[in-house]
Amino acid sequence: MNQKIVFIKLTFVAAILFSATCFISCEKYTYDPPKLDPNVLISFQNDIASIFTGNCTSCHGGAIDPDLREGKAFNSLTNGGYLNTANPESSRLYQQVVSSGHSSRTSDIQKQKILAWIKQGALNN
Ligand code: HEC
Repeated sequence: MNQKIVFIKLTFVAAILFSATCFISCEKYTYDPPKLDPNVLISFQNDIASIFTGNCTSCHGGAIDPDLREGKAFNSLTNGGYLNTANPESSRLYQQVVSSGHSSRTSDIQKQKILAWIKQGALNN
């Protein structure tokens, strides 16, 4: 067998071994998004208000409803009917946060926090 063919064969085997290794390591380290502990009480002041000021008030700063500025957000969400504690997933706030137009504005864990806060009764805490 000529040397060139042996070399090609070895390269081929090495490539297969390399991709197999990659595949196994990918299997082992699949991305698992962080999960929020549902038993931890979410605070509107400490957990939710900062999501709004960081990600939302550039648009929802008074001109577009709901007004999500600090000190205004709780009342505008409550009075505007954006929250449904009986069926948290259907709340207009949560529906909007996961909608295609708004989804990129919050991280996965922030979405979970907003939903958990509504599930815990949407308290002004
Ligand atoms: C780039 C501007 C922009 C940003 C940033 C933005 N929004 Fe909005 N949002 C809009 C516009 C425009 C509307 C009204 C039209 C619509 O429904 O898409 C709206 C509508 C809404 C509504 C009302 C939906 C309804 O059912 O009437 C909610 C609730 C909302 N946004 C929440 C948020 C939250 C929470 C954030 C931050 C995570 C956010 N928005 C960030 C532009 C923005």
